[in-house]
Amino acid sequence: MILITGCAGFIGYHLSLRLLKINKKILGIDNLNSYYDKTLKIDRLKQLKKFKNFKFFNLDLTDYKKTYKNVKNKFFSTIIHLAAQPGVRYSFLNPSLTLYNNLNSFNNIIEISRLKNIKKFIYASSSSVYGEVKKIPFSENDISIKPISIYGASKLSNEIIASAYSKNYKLNCFGLRFFTVYGPYGRPDMAYYSFALKNLRNQKIELYNNANMFRDFTYIDDVVSAIIKIINLKNTSNSNQIFNIGKGKPDKLKDLVYSLEKRLGNKFNIYYKKFIPKGDIKKTYSNNKKIRQILKWSPKVSLDKGIEKFVYWFKKRH
Ligand SMILES: NC(=O)c1ccc[n+]([C@@H]2O[C@H](COP(=O)([O-])OP(=O)(O)OC[C@H]3O[C@@H](n4cnc5c(N)ncnc54)[C@H](O)[C@@H]3O)[C@@H](O)[C@H]2O)c1
Repeated sequence: MILITGCAGFIGYHLSLRLLKINKKILGIDNLNSYYDKTLKIDRLKQLKKFKNFKFFNLDLTDYKKTYKNVKNKFFSTIIHLAAQPGVRYSFLNPSLTLYNNLNSFNNIIEISRLKNIKKFIYASSSSVYGEVKKIPFSENDISIKPISIYGASKLSNEIIASAYSKNYKLNCFGLRFFTVYGPYGRPDMAYYSFALKNLRNQKIELYNNANMFRDFTYIDDVVSAIIKIINLKNTSNSNQIFNIGKGKPDKLKDLVYSLEKRLGNKFNIYYKKFIPKGDIKKTYSNNKKIRQILKWSPKVSLDKGIEKFVYWFKKRH
């Protein structure tokens, strides 16, 4: 059985669904919090519950005693920890809530992984750990990285703790630095989704740094394929690995806007802003040589194709 935390979240849902379709047994944990529209989480969960191999616990991972009690008698081959408080901007406004969740949930689940002698502990990190690093594209080998957001700092702290667990207890840890993941059933707090909602309501959108921003948009199916390759990776003893999971080809924010306009069939009302919000960076760009070489992974979906798939789903939902 595989334990997936954050299974009602965007990435957790897609990963669980893909694994259930190939008959894997999944135990999903989520606290279904209301950081964004809770009905989206409930709808994702409804689909997962259709599979007899899926079991769900509504648990808050910051509660160590309760979480441990619920999983102590279960056997897991792998634990995949995706639950977290996401959002760079949210973390600027709510630093202590972000740190409380992202540090405590992580510390509790990695400790449970140790106690249960898990073969592989896979966890979500983020491209936000790179902050304003000068060397582009961002590489896992760059040790000069310094996050500039509280969210990025929480994720880098997770990586440091994983490194110590791996050294001290021979726990095989895999940290995945995701780069702007998007797609159907996505997160309404992220730009592509919130822009689509504003387009629907004829509301203005704001483009920061006069739209001179770039993101390495990575389609959800490509991300799930990468995680599955890590689950299947052999000979992983004494591992403490970090992987960038990014397309490796940043897109202009304007290209996102054009692609959304084209598929939604409605022009945006754009408000250009000079500044960049605190914690945000101008460009994210993943060096994905490592994952290409070790896992033979390559991204398949371009931004335009991915947005087409997102909008197809979005129109049905809204
Ligand atoms: N989506 C992206 O572009 C992206 C980029 C970089 C990193 N990440 C990371 O990937 C992971 C998954 O992201 P996502 O986009 O699916 O986010 P999400 O918010 O959709 O999913 C996270 C899920 O975790 C649950 N959760 C949060 N705190 C919890 C707790 N204490 N106990 C139990 N459940 C809890 C939430 O209810 C939610 O369903 C997160 O760790 C996020 O930080 C995502």
